[in-house]
Amino acid sequence: MRTDTPQTIHRKDYAAPNYLVDTVEMGFDLEPAATRVATRIAMYRNPAAAGRDIVLFGEELELVALRLNGKTLAKGDYRLAGHVLTIPAAPAKAVLEIETVTHPDRNTSLMGLYVSNGNFFTQCEAEGFRKITFFPDRPDVMAKYTVMLRADKKKYPVLLSNGNLVEQGNLPDGRHYAKWEDPFKKPSYLFALVAGDLVCQEEKYKLKSGREVLLQVWVEEGNLDKTQHAMDSLKNSIAWDVDRFGLELDLDRFMIVAVGDFNMGAMENKGLNIFNTKYVLANPRIATDVDFANIEAVVGHEYFHNWTGNRVTCRDWFQLSLKEGLTVFRDQEFSADMIGTDSGRAVKRIDDVRVLRQAQFPEDAGPMAHPVRPDSYVEINNFYTVTIYEKGAEVVRMYQTLLGRKGFRKGMDLYFKRHDGQAVTCDDFRAAMADANKRDLTQFERWYSQSGTPQVDASARYDAKGKILELTLEQTCPATPGQKKKQPFHIPVAVGLLDAKGRDMPLKLEGESGADATGTRVLELTKARQTFRFTGVNEAPVPSILRGFSAPVVLKVDYSDAELAFLMAHDSDPFNRWEAGQRLAMRRLLNLTVAVQAARQSGHVVAVDTVLNNIEHDGALADALRATLNDASLDPAFRELALTLPSETMIAEQMEVIDPHAIHIARQFLRRSLARALRDDLLAAYRANRVPGAYSPDAASAGRRALKNVALSYLAELDDAEALSLAQCQDEEANNMTDRLAALAALLNSTASGKSEALQGFYDEFESEALVIDKWFTLQATARDADVNTVRSLAGHPAFTLKNPNRARSLIFSFCNGNPSAFHALDGNGYSFWAEQVIALNGSNPQVAARLARSLDRWRKYTPALQEKMRLALQQVASSPNLSRDVSEVVTKALA
Ligand code: PHE
Ligand code: ZN
Repeated sequence: MRTDTPQTIHRKDYAAPNYLVDTVEMGFDLEPAATRVATRIAMYRNPAAAGRDIVLFGEELELVALRLNGKTLAKGDYRLAGHVLTIPAAPAKAVLEIETVTHPDRNTSLMGLYVSNGNFFTQCEAEGFRKITFFPDRPDVMAKYTVMLRADKKKYPVLLSNGNLVEQGNLPDGRHYAKWEDPFKKPSYLFALVAGDLVCQEEKYKLKSGREVLLQVWVEEGNLDKTQHAMDSLKNSIAWDVDRFGLELDLDRFMIVAVGDFNMGAMENKGLNIFNTKYVLANPRIATDVDFANIEAVVGHEYFHNWTGNRVTCRDWFQLSLKEGLTVFRDQEFSADMIGTDSGRAVKRIDDVRVLRQAQFPEDAGPMAHPVRPDSYVEINNFYTVTIYEKGAEVVRMYQTLLGRKGFRKGMDLYFKRHDGQAVTCDDFRAAMADANKRDLTQFERWYSQSGTPQVDASARYDAKGKILELTLEQTCPATPGQKKKQPFHIPVAVGLLDAKGRDMPLKLEGESGADATGTRVLELTKARQTFRFTGVNEAPVPSILRGFSAPVVLKVDYSDAELAFLMAHDSDPFNRWEAGQRLAMRRLLNLTVAVQAARQSGHVVAVDTVLNNIEHDGALADALRATLNDASLDPAFRELALTLPSETMIAEQMEVIDPHAIHIARQFLRRSLARALRDDLLAAYRANRVPGAYSPDAASAGRRALKNVALSYLAELDDAEALSLAQCQDEEANNMTDRLAALAALLNSTASGKSEALQGFYDEFESEALVIDKWFTLQATARDADVNTVRSLAGHPAFTLKNPNRARSLIFSFCNGNPSAFHALDGNGYSFWAEQVIALNGSNPQVAARLARSLDRWRKYTPALQEKMRLALQQVASSPNLSRDVSEVVTKALA
């Protein structure tokens, strides 16, 4: 805990390290209360740096001994100020020997070396290694590691670290040891060890090159019936990276270890990936279709880091998106390829864009907005954001859109050829893409340096005489913290033109010769305003713009309702087909929200429903949705997405002033009236999409379940006997967690009796499955009739603890972020609850506390009454004692 003012770190202040490291040898005597760590670091002066001081970082360490080239350093030979240990004027070659003691069982931050359920784990990204030993803990210092682990053999039969196991044996007093050697140079943030009572599923796997490798998935005893999917995902990832990028596994052994206490999703430590159990453990009984898909994606993500992140790493943490954006892009492509079909790819794309809009667009418009390559930070842990990850992935995707798949591959090949074994920058990546394709990507750099979501305004003008379609694109970008004025971005805009029958028309720009391309073409918008003239356009077309969501922008186009319904029915681009429906629905939702507000203002609170019924006269949206719902040529997964209305958060982002209650009433109203209009079709879809036989998480079956369950959730809005009996039967007959949860959610949001019995039954059945109990908490925190009192009483449940991040997220985060109308209760009680929880978490786990602190990011956008209450809650947190750097940065920026 700090008492001084946190310092801001600036990208422009980057300086190469004075000393580089050749080798690191570490010895661990593992004891929960006090673990002794002996480290031997062979260092040499960096010819590229001017300084002669050795600079090491260390946090929460007891320094027992410090030797330089064999000589013990006395107090006057070094300086220890805060977290920095400096050895002035050191020799050109220095062997440092350091002995430290840490206290893993008291480590609740889950950074560095900690204990979870009796076993040892480490988490070193971004700056956790300095909680294990003093070290030049920065990613541009890469070294080879040898690690000796010693521990009680009974309690900790399994001892793992990075690389290869080179030796193991017994020691006196019931102890044993294992020695690990990592043949590859790596930054300290990729160091890992695991020691404990674990079991594994393992398999020998033959790489394409013929080399055999050992794959292992380590879990606690009793969980071996939940590892197959992770193992399959790992094998698929290995094969995919060779196929798509020619990148092979470079180690003889690759391990995944599951841990129940983990701050994030998973960690790509070299050869020893450590995973949140949520992204490893699955079988039909405990995991949903979404869980299965997430596991595949995260296993892929961490595996792909082996090249994009580990073999080539980041020079400094400002370059975080170099590895994260690129690796998210890779895992997105992997998941899409695993589905295999074009429509499956489109569904995956829509899913990814939904995440971007729901979470990243608000971030980019709020007080924590930052460029994909930030210029400054206070606490790096706060910069593992949707901007770095998801917008970063969009930026990488744009290279592929501009250069084509082949061109992108050429760029990747050159990137590895130039930088294997190095710590590099986002500029290096861009240069590889540009040079490999002989393209000028200078302007593209603005995607890295400018924050905020650009807006593109599109307008079309058809000249029937000249058969010319003029498409004018104009781009702007709103001001963001520290960035008032923006320069134009280099934006790939994929467009198509639809004729009256809905078919794609030939696309030829004025002045072009050669054959016309029919379908989609990518326009490059580089100026503030540009007009593109298509020639030979024989009839007035409906333009389909930003196909496949070719750039992370907000697209404004003036479509009529009829044009949107037309695109929804015909666009050959599935993304824009879905998008048209969303635009139509959003229009309706915003109108209804305004109507709710107006009715409320005129004092007609009770008459809201009547008012809404009166304006809900045209059935255009219902008709369009019905057509989509009943179109058997469309993937069920796509139809499910089309039927899902924009979330309350998405609607909120469209409003000048956010009124969460009006939004909630409006959206519920629309759901109910759609359920009424589509009742028979929904029932038919429900029946037609039951998946018979044994459960399989494949995309086709999952898509059918998703459509069936969205139908069920609409039908449940009617709260009639038939809908409830469907839900009840499904709850009883389901052979998988997806259907169980969907049924339970439908029941919970109805007026059915026996809700608490159903919840209790579910709890009793799954009491020993922590991941399912998380779902049980989430279900109740996001239930429609939940309020802060529901959540307070759940927080008092014996199974609840703030100390476990998954559990904290399942209840507290789910309520604050996933139940907006209850969280934003007019009395402000949601906010007081939020403040209490942030303050409590701040004491044990600052990283998780800071995540929760961000729930109030958008406070300035709310109605004045709510704004004021939010500001008070933020101030309460800001002025609480012992505030961590993590939380302090978030609330300070929010209040600024
Ligand atoms: N680097 C991890 C990933 O994206 C995320 C992570 C960051 C995990 C910090 C733990 C701590 O795969
Ligand atoms: Zn990652």
